[in-house]
Amino acid sequence: MIICGSPRVNGNSDLLAAQFAKGAQEAGHQVRTVYVRQLKMNYCHGCMACLPDAMSCIQHDDLNALLPWMMDADVVCFATPVYYYSITAQMKTFIDRMNPLYGHWRDKEVYYMVTAAEEDHAQLDRAMDALQGFVDCFEGMVVKGRIYGGGATNKGDIVRLPAYEEAYEMGRTI
Ligand SMILES: Cc1cc2nc3c(=O)[nH]c(=O)nc-3n(C[C@H](O)[C@H](O)[C@H](O)COP(=O)(O)O)c2cc1C
Repeated sequence: MIICGSPRVNGNSDLLAAQFAKGAQEAGHQVRTVYVRQLKMNYCHGCMACLPDAMSCIQHDDLNALLPWMMDADVVCFATPVYYYSITAQMKTFIDRMNPLYGHWRDKEVYYMVTAAEEDHAQLDRAMDALQGFVDCFEGMVVKGRIYGGGATNKGDIVRLPAYEEAYEMGRTI
């Protein structure tokens, strides 16, 4: 399962996600890609009605349908741009809405792919850490790879950078 957190259609993180998907499919895996921007998605209300065992949210939007997808997935890949040294609001909202998984979701292989204008890896680490903060809340999660897509400002810049090929290779080797 690939979760794309950019609001920009066919942007750099979408392109990395497509490369990862292509590699994974060529290796014989079934891939589901979720574009968070396409979802009808409200913010988490913080009501905690989802815990401990509801396994659903009281809100009637697109998120409940994705909980079984998250449970079924063996591998989860998060693809997001850096927005002000963190992940996008779309990705954060998606993560918060996964709260019904708390205590249930476990034993996944995880990949992170982050794009940014800045080239220096250190400038992308806070976004990596934001994703890690979610993953750290679950047992048996193994982070298998991180792609740093720095140096990509405009749509499509990523195809000329090493990250583009790396994303394909990462998908191929899961
Ligand atoms: C609101 C906003 C905030 C951004 N903040 C940063 C930032 O803090 N650091 C950075 O290097 N790039 C920043 N960028 C640039 C994007 O991370 C970069 O263009 C990225 O490739 C976009 O990925 P996408 O094409 O998948 O949307 C920002 C872009 C936007 C629109």
